[in-house]
Amino acid sequence: MHADPAISAAILGAFQTQVKWCEHLEAPFTAALLRAAAREFQSGGKLAEIIGGWPGDPKADLLPLRINGALNALVLTGTAPELASVYPPHARPDEASLQTILASVLRQHGDFIRRFIVSPPQTNEVGRSAALLGGFLEIAAATKLPLRLLEIGASAGLNLLWDRFFYRLGDASWGDPAAPVQLAPAWQGSLPPLTAPVRVAERTGCDLFPIDIADPDQRLRLRAYMWVDHTERMKRLDGAIALARREGVTVERSNATAFVQRQLATPRQGTATVLYHSIMWNYVSDEDKAAVTNLVRDAAGRATPEAPLAWLRFELEEAGTNPVVNLTLWPGGLDRRLAVASPHGATIEWVG
Ligand SMILES: C[S@@+](CC[C@H](N)C(=O)[O-])C[C@H]1O[C@@H](n2cnc3c(N)ncnc32)[C@H](O)[C@@H]1O
Repeated sequence: MHADPAISAAILGAFQTQVKWCEHLEAPFTAALLRAAAREFQSGGKLAEIIGGWPGDPKADLLPLRINGALNALVLTGTAPELASVYPPHARPDEASLQTILASVLRQHGDFIRRFIVSPPQTNEVGRSAALLGGFLEIAAATKLPLRLLEIGASAGLNLLWDRFFYRLGDASWGDPAAPVQLAPAWQGSLPPLTAPVRVAERTGCDLFPIDIADPDQRLRLRAYMWVDHTERMKRLDGAIALARREGVTVERSNATAFVQRQLATPRQGTATVLYHSIMWNYVSDEDKAAVTNLVRDAAGRATPEAPLAWLRFELEEAGTNPVVNLTLWPGGLDRRLAVASPHGATIEWVG
């Protein structure tokens, strides 16, 4: 273990917190794996050598999720068959067996793990499209124009393809039933305007750290950060990756402010420009939040019925509560709270 007890305590604390989250979010295998990892660390084994001198804040750096991602990557690439043999869908081993296997994997693959955990976890949750869908439909119904999609914090850009997914919303549905991504959130409340005419004229996104899904290593990372307990989420992630590769979706490397400044500089006649984002606003600096908000306000002043502007966001409003879908549409500037949804879009309460 690291000589500095404060660092060791911080690392252990990060693992304990993450284990609780995994238990809460129905990921019992990932919780057991991280419990085993914490014991490995505490016993001064190989993991203590790998992360004992972690230079940053283990909790803020999501160190346990970096370790979990590295282990998942070893399994996904077929590099650690003994670990794969106890991963879901196999029966969960008892904690002592898992610990023994983990210790052996850590000893064999320390260098790979060391390299893998250098980068922060980066995810792209396709389920959030189900929360955003109603907003896009409201915009299409109100403007009757093709949509020009601009997503900030788009990660791999998978939610730029929301119109190519299939959605089951209670007894209703939307989209192509043969789509490679099928979303069936638990739906409460009335429905958005499902018959609104949806045409996408253009789709483009930005991210500070975009994931290029054409690159096999980046694709592996995206899949490795998914908790292996969540098999349905993994299925739709794989469907979305395949679709995005076929469609050639790209996300440019850019700060949201620079991207929004460029994209909203001039109104685009004959399309409804939709600036949208999901679960990214809290990562943006106060300065950039203010800059983006001012740029949207400026562009809103130039919006017309022939070139309207929408700002659709699925974001946390208050810590400890579910994120909210809000929509503002110009001209007019009508601000509407549309839905409250769980962070991955598994349950959606439509309040619009
Ligand atoms: C939690 S992820 C969400 C990704 C995606 N929107 C989703 O819902 O799956 C937050 C994303 O925002 C990006 N991000 C954070 N600050 C940003 C900024 N100022 N400009 C652009 N992207 C940013 C991060 O790189 C990350 O990909």
